[in-house]
Amino acid sequence: MDYSYLDFNHLDSVLEIERESNPYPWTARNFSDCIEKGYYSMVLEDKEKFVGFAIMAISSEESHLLNIGVNKDFRGSGFGEQILKKMIIAAEVMGSKKIILEVRVSNKIAYRLYEKLGFHEIGERKKYYRLPEGREDAYVMSKTLKKGFVSSLFFSKG
Ligand SMILES: CC(C)(COP(=O)(O)OP(=O)(O)OC[C@H]1O[C@@H](n2cnc3c(N)ncnc32)[C@H](O)[C@@H]1OP(=O)(O)O)[C@@H](O)C(=O)NCCC(=O)NCCS
Repeated sequence: MDYSYLDFNHLDSVLEIERESNPYPWTARNFSDCIEKGYYSMVLEDKEKFVGFAIMAISSEESHLLNIGVNKDFRGSGFGEQILKKMIIAAEVMGSKKIILEVRVSNKIAYRLYEKLGFHEIGERKKYYRLPEGREDAYVMSKTLKKGFVSSLFFSKG
């Protein structure tokens, strides 16, 4: 299994995951914008198979997890957790104070993953996601990151 940064060659694979996961999936343009804007975007691949991806806008005050997905053939095997842990470490290393994200109120699996890795609910955004009929609310979740994580890397005594 190898990690790399998301690039234009990965678009078909991320779109496949996105289309099987969401009634109104992100488009190729949405993913291309993330690449062009330089968002922190990682993919995990196993030889010929594309396992999963995550995209995060990192900033010092508050990073924002924008998307995460695992190919349905690989779900339930710990890869989503592994990818999210990488994103958390990246935000910490870059000195971010916290990560926030939105999750559909019906997406219990993603909610449990976020909870397991220390995110907690801080609010709701009403009618945030489109549905074939109507709209769905989102929970907003947040995780506070380790204080001084960056300085501890540079000034640790050991
Ligand atoms: C959410 C998603 C990324 C999880 O990835 P995954 O690789 O299947 O998850 P993992 O195997 O790493 O599981 C990690 C944790 O997630 C939760 N989880 C995963 N599958 C679950 C299931 N079927 N039922 C309940 N909880 C589940 C559990 O807390 C699990 O920890 P545990 O194994 O100790 O119980 C994946 O289901 C996915 O791609 N879903 C579609 C896209 C999506 O919903 N993205 C989130 C948008 S907000």
